[in-house]
Amino acid sequence: MTASYPNLRLRRTRASAWSRALHRETVLAPANLIWPLFVTEGSGVEEPIASLPGVSRWSIDGIVKRANEALDLGIPCVALFPNTQAERRSDEGAEALNPDNLMCRAIRAIKDACGSDIGVLTDVALDPYTSHGQDGLIDRQGYVTNDDTVAVLVDQAMNQAEAGADIIAPSDMMDGRVRAIRMALEMGGHANVQIMSYAAKYASAFYGPFRDAVGSGGLLKGDKKSYQMDPGNAEEALREVALDLAEGADSVMVKPGLPYLDIVRRVKERFEVPVFAYQVSGEYAMIEAAAAAGAGDRDALVLETLLAFRRAGCSGVLTYHAAHAARLLGA
Ligand code: PBG
Repeated sequence: MTASYPNLRLRRTRASAWSRALHRETVLAPANLIWPLFVTEGSGVEEPIASLPGVSRWSIDGIVKRANEALDLGIPCVALFPNTQAERRSDEGAEALNPDNLMCRAIRAIKDACGSDIGVLTDVALDPYTSHGQDGLIDRQGYVTNDDTVAVLVDQAMNQAEAGADIIAPSDMMDGRVRAIRMALEMGGHANVQIMSYAAKYASAFYGPFRDAVGSGGLLKGDKKSYQMDPGNAEEALREVALDLAEGADSVMVKPGLPYLDIVRRVKERFEVPVFAYQVSGEYAMIEAAAAAGAGDRDALVLETLLAFRRAGCSGVLTYHAAHAARLLGA
């Protein structure tokens, strides 16, 4: 028997702030945030990214400051993305395997400064290192080949793990890469290095500002539709997630975020594993543009969208708003 009006007045519990707080089903905390950071060469360098207002590339000294800031704010993890110098990019992306590349130096610097107090997540894919901007090796037709690419990604992941990465996050969408990376980590003495796979990553129009940030946008020929998923597909996302979990992923990611909350929910309900979402660069830019145009209150938009990820089932969210949101949450 269900109660009905007037015995049931759902507005009763909404009438005051204390009561709303008491009845709130989902909360957002700084601990639910992962802060993506862009690294550039030099020292004392800050390069604002025009298409990502409020976000900059930092040289490694600045990255270490951001990592300490994250620590102070209660953000448990940062994600690193390098802007590789043009002369170090090549068709094969060999710079990804250099133990002294920008990424590895940034990982070591954070680990030296913050030790095990903060997690460092590193992206595995070749796009910041290739002269063609694709995430893997290409054949003569420009097709990104799977198995050859996986072999390089394994070496890239090992290179990052050796430098001290805590979470390896393959964002390339090749088949079979999670198993190959997991095996290499196990054999190579890195059994405790986690894998958070970009399991359901869509070929999205929301990645533009990110590609500016890592400098791959202008280089990219064609698109990534032969490996990233078709935005119309949901069943396929569940198959991707099942595969990555079977191959040894500790957690899975859905990307982009807000337009794909249905996928987050279905993955969470089906698999009952830690699910993360990436509120990507285009989503960040959209919120900033809306706020700048007076179409909404920036802080409220930020907190509402991040809370929505939690309600949909996310353990955490990668967001460029992480530090700002943590401050709003009173950290
Ligand atoms: C690289 C990668 C991309 C993003 C994260 N890792 C871009 C892409 O796949 O083209 C996008 C993140 C963002 O837009 O914020 N494979």
